[in-house]
Amino acid sequence: MLNNKNIILGVCGSIAAYKSAFLVRLLVKAGANVKVILTPDGANFITPLTLATLSKNPVYTQYFEEETGVWSNHVELGLWADLILIAPTSANTLAKLATGICDNLLTAVYLSAKCPVYVAPAMDLDMWKHETTQQNIARVTSYANTIIYPTSGELASGLYGEGRMAEPEEIVSFLTNAIKQSLPLFGKKAMVTAGPSYEAIDPVRFIGNHSSGKMGFALADELARLGAEVTLIAGPTAQKTEQSLKRVDVVSAEEMLNACSSLFPETDITVMCAAVADYRPKTVSTQKIKKQENELVLELEKTTDILASLGKVKKPGQILVGFALETNDEENYAKGKLEKKNLDLVVLNSLNDKGAGFKSDTNKITIFNKALQRTTFETKSKVAVAKDICEAILKL
Ligand code: CTP
Repeated sequence: MLNNKNIILGVCGSIAAYKSAFLVRLLVKAGANVKVILTPDGANFITPLTLATLSKNPVYTQYFEEETGVWSNHVELGLWADLILIAPTSANTLAKLATGICDNLLTAVYLSAKCPVYVAPAMDLDMWKHETTQQNIARVTSYANTIIYPTSGELASGLYGEGRMAEPEEIVSFLTNAIKQSLPLFGKKAMVTAGPSYEAIDPVRFIGNHSSGKMGFALADELARLGAEVTLIAGPTAQKTEQSLKRVDVVSAEEMLNACSSLFPETDITVMCAAVADYRPKTVSTQKIKKQENELVLELEKTTDILASLGKVKKPGQILVGFALETNDEENYAKGKLEKKNLDLVVLNSLNDKGAGFKSDTNKITIFNKALQRTTFETKSKVAVAKDICEAILKL
């Protein structure tokens, strides 16, 4: 969740500032880009050198460096950030956030930023309990900031009670959950099929196709990035997902059918990207078929159309997306599949388009919705195509 996120960590004057070193380490380990702003008081508790070394970025302490005249642009810093975390937030900085006082770089960045702000207070028991502090907390919360509440325990003063800054691990998991919950597909279950199916002829041979699985894997990754809980049902392929998600490996159309049918009732969004065999050998020889004198005839039987079978049992609110890979009369075939299989969207790719279809890293698609409205897209990487398809799903 924190991977590649730009995070500004504000550190104020509180003994809990020593924990910000651990916090920076955990954020960087989670893949975040961290820039630290120390308030003048914060710099009394922890050195810029420590935080710069851990964050691998210069630490900002003031608007400009007296010696060099280099100016730190608070607006630019605010725009750079995907989120601001102020940990520890002292009672003094909390009061400034509540009233708009802007007398240092951190408070200036706070006022100019548009991203979510997380405030983790740290102070002594009685300061925390004070009515002014509690009113400041209420005001800061009312400005759509999020408080990461302090916990109870032994305080630096030797007193016991509330006021201890949440531990760095707790803060990181708080941020992770908050980001997860803000994603558009949070709480939704998605299922994606990808890759080919192999239909056995005998113990050493099969009928298959050239599907690489790239498109389906990119879709599964993108749905997971948007917050869905994704199960990827993958035919034989060497692809790997970037996101950690549930993966069920199958070989034949029948195995894929069984996996899809058992998951479908609980699934909100289903995207059937796999190139499933339409026919399989009627009988599978238990022994290797030996070379014949003349030709060999294989008798094939139809497999179940998985997508059509799911379309038959689809309930209101479930979204079903299918693909149509065509070579001629593309638009009519795609629209036909949308209606016949009871789909919400069909994604057409034509083998006549350069850069579309199996194996390639790019694809060129046209999407039709239920009202048969078409949206055409340029040739793009399969990762970018997955984003376009997911955007069409989000619109539903
Ligand atoms: N599909 C499926 N099960 C099958 C065959 C296809 O679930 N046994 C799904 C594919 O995953 C895809 C869609 O159906 O989402 C369309 O597949 P495609 O092979 O283009 O079309 P078919 O319906 O098989 O028709 P045809 O081969 O005649 O074009």
